[in-house]
Amino acid sequence: MMNFALCILFVLRFVLADPNMQELSGTWSSKSNTVFTGPGFYDPVDELLIEPDLPGISYSFTEDGHYEEALYRVTANPRDHSCPSAVLIFQHGTYELLTNGSLILTPIAVDGRQLLSAPCTDDSKSVYSRYNQPTWFEKYQVYVDPYHGRWTLQIYQFDGSKMQPLYLAYRPPNMLPTSALNPTDKASETGTSLRKRARRSLENQYRTSATRVTSKETWWWTAVGVLGVGSFVLFLK
Ligand SMILES: *[C@@H]1O[C@H](CO)[C@@H](O)[C@H](O)[C@H]1NC(C)=O
Repeated sequence: MMNFALCILFVLRFVLADPNMQELSGTWSSKSNTVFTGPGFYDPVDELLIEPDLPGISYSFTEDGHYEEALYRVTANPRDHSCPSAVLIFQHGTYELLTNGSLILTPIAVDGRQLLSAPCTDDSKSVYSRYNQPTWFEKYQVYVDPYHGRWTLQIYQFDGSKMQPLYLAYRPPNMLPTSALNPTDKASETGTSLRKRARRSLENQYRTSATRVTSKETWWWTAVGVLGVGSFVLFLK
């Protein structure tokens, strides 16, 4: 009976399921597996973007509509290969899943940050700035990659082109606090005291319930799913 209930759940989840916030929840990271959202990428207390070892992208989603984005892109310089330019971007905010499957990301405008460095073009200086880019994705799919047995998130960008696949790294997600990190934008309020207050409240929120996802776990759930479908089919006969 237990098995029957499980397989009903499984069938409902994968056959009838609309795109839903539950399947999106978690921290997803591109193949390099070096870029993850959370305090390892952006330190909001010191407003510091931390460069990962290799370029990549990461998105986190919560089941209740919050998201976080971490991007690290390196672009080759065709004239001097020892001089690539790099960009680090942090954004977070809320997302909305439309009934037609499109995904809308709305960042908290005051919190986004970008660090651009082009060592050979601007006197080796990096340019650090605010960043606010709402994003619209046409659709996405969540599935188990048949080769690696890993949960995969395939995002289709606004023009229908495929983003590089993202793999599930943490569930629940590894994220910074989802509320505004820099609650004010006004010059009159950017005193040291405010910063100290922000620091104290943030330090406590860093403790996260994120859990690393291992392939073993994915395999187990896949097996449960396959067995579930198997017994469901038997049950119908
Ligand atoms: C979904 O709806 C939005 C808003 O109406 C629209 O802009 C978008 O093109 C639709 N997406 C798809 C995949 O049809």
